[in-house]
Amino acid sequence: MAPLPSPAPTAAVIGMQWGDEGKGKIVDLLTEDFDVVVRFNGGANAGHSVVIGDRRYALHLVPCGILRPDRLNIVANGVVVDPEVLCAEIDGLTAQGVQVGANLRISDRAHVVMPYHKQTDAWLEHAQARSEDRAPIGTTGRGIGPCYADKAWRSTAIRMADLVDPAALRTRLAHIAGVKNATLAGLAAWVGEPFEPIDPDALAATYGAYADRLRPHVADTNALLHDALAAGRRVLFEGGNGTLLDVDHGSFPYVTSSSTSALGIYPGAGVPGGSVTRIVGIVKAYTTRVGGGPLPTEQDNAVGRHLRERGREYGTTTGRPRRCGWLDLVAVRHAVRLSGTTEIAVMLLDVLAGLESLAVCTAYRHGGRTFDTFPASAAVLEAVEPAYETVPGFVADISAARCWDDLPAAAQDYVALIERVVGVPVSLVSVGPDRAQTLAR
Ligand code: GDP
Ligand code: IMO
Ligand code: MG
Repeated sequence: MAPLPSPAPTAAVIGMQWGDEGKGKIVDLLTEDFDVVVRFNGGANAGHSVVIGDRRYALHLVPCGILRPDRLNIVANGVVVDPEVLCAEIDGLTAQGVQVGANLRISDRAHVVMPYHKQTDAWLEHAQARSEDRAPIGTTGRGIGPCYADKAWRSTAIRMADLVDPAALRTRLAHIAGVKNATLAGLAAWVGEPFEPIDPDALAATYGAYADRLRPHVADTNALLHDALAAGRRVLFEGGNGTLLDVDHGSFPYVTSSSTSALGIYPGAGVPGGSVTRIVGIVKAYTTRVGGGPLPTEQDNAVGRHLRERGREYGTTTGRPRRCGWLDLVAVRHAVRLSGTTEIAVMLLDVLAGLESLAVCTAYRHGGRTFDTFPASAAVLEAVEPAYETVPGFVADISAARCWDDLPAAAQDYVALIERVVGVPVSLVSVGPDRAQTLAR
């Protein structure tokens, strides 16, 4: 038997907080050294911004590798694909001069987000808002949860392979319309919204048109990925959302519906467990969160406003203002352990400039106990009191720094503090959105 090819270099970029850590910027940077970029989880709830010169790109479903020529970009089986959003995104990229053709492949196993998923998403949020149970999740409204629910439910799911097969699409939709019209009419009545029954023929026509556009991109991406790995091509996995939004390990129920840590790569792309050994954890120099749920270090005050305005903390996907607070290293350490993070990129360090002192949460206090593990209960996470280590801030703007030695001592010490508490080396520091504003440690 011929010797097996040696494993190709692989890496992953994973958010270590509640999303929007700056993953897009680092995927774009690292892609210089990779041939294939793979999204493996989430859907159009993600919004990854990349700034190249005077151009800003916002990617939702398409991997950031699309911005460099000759890279293969894969939307793998673990992603939920909204054809309407994807077609609009391809149009937007094309209008910006980005070539999208054979360089984009979408898994035939990926599940399809339909209009009734988005409607259900909104109605479930309305129902939650009116109940005395708990606060709404504050979803992106992109139909993510209901689509993953149908995937688990199976009988009402549509995969890309069905979408691009006109006969399969028609018969699937006829069945699904029956089930959804029966169930959603009740939900709509419960939340007091008008219900327009699903017309399977109209939906088949609209989605058949999207299918015609997307068909050339649909492929067995698992086979493509294995061929690429066997040929020694370098593969980068692009995480969507953030680890603390993970459906199993995040701040449940205030999470998204997919596996957002590096653990999600294996089922989400169909590669063997452990085949990615370089895990780049993306850590914003402070904490943000968009949507509901606990945020122990939130600063609903002048510090929070400083971070929001200086960091331009408004969502890429929904435009919502992001909630801002001090860096929570209890949460980051939880994320680092789950993913087996091997190195950290510290992002948006420039945003901290001008704050006299900086606080970093290194433990939680609750019920007379001090601990440094991330609690399962959202109620506990809501109630914990952060234990802070306070360090001097830096006043001057650092966005013009181009190497580690350009940083003031207080900024260097802050990065060293992250390393010390988390126990993982920081390899990159980012001081602005541009490619050039990235410093090797
Ligand atoms: P992602 O979802 O993790 O890719 O992050 P987003 O793109 O949603 O949000 C990060 C935002 O910060 C984007 O607008 C980036 O252009 C911007 N950004 C990335 N790195 C830096 C940085 O070091 N400094 C500043 N000021 N902005 C940055
Ligand atoms: P990127 O990839 C920030 C949040 C939503 C909401 C919760 C559930 O840009 O980092 P969903 O629509 O997924 O059911 O919403 O998860 N959320 C994100 N927050 N960045 C993201 O992606 C997010 N994806 C989901 O705000 O609180
Ligand atoms: Mg984002």
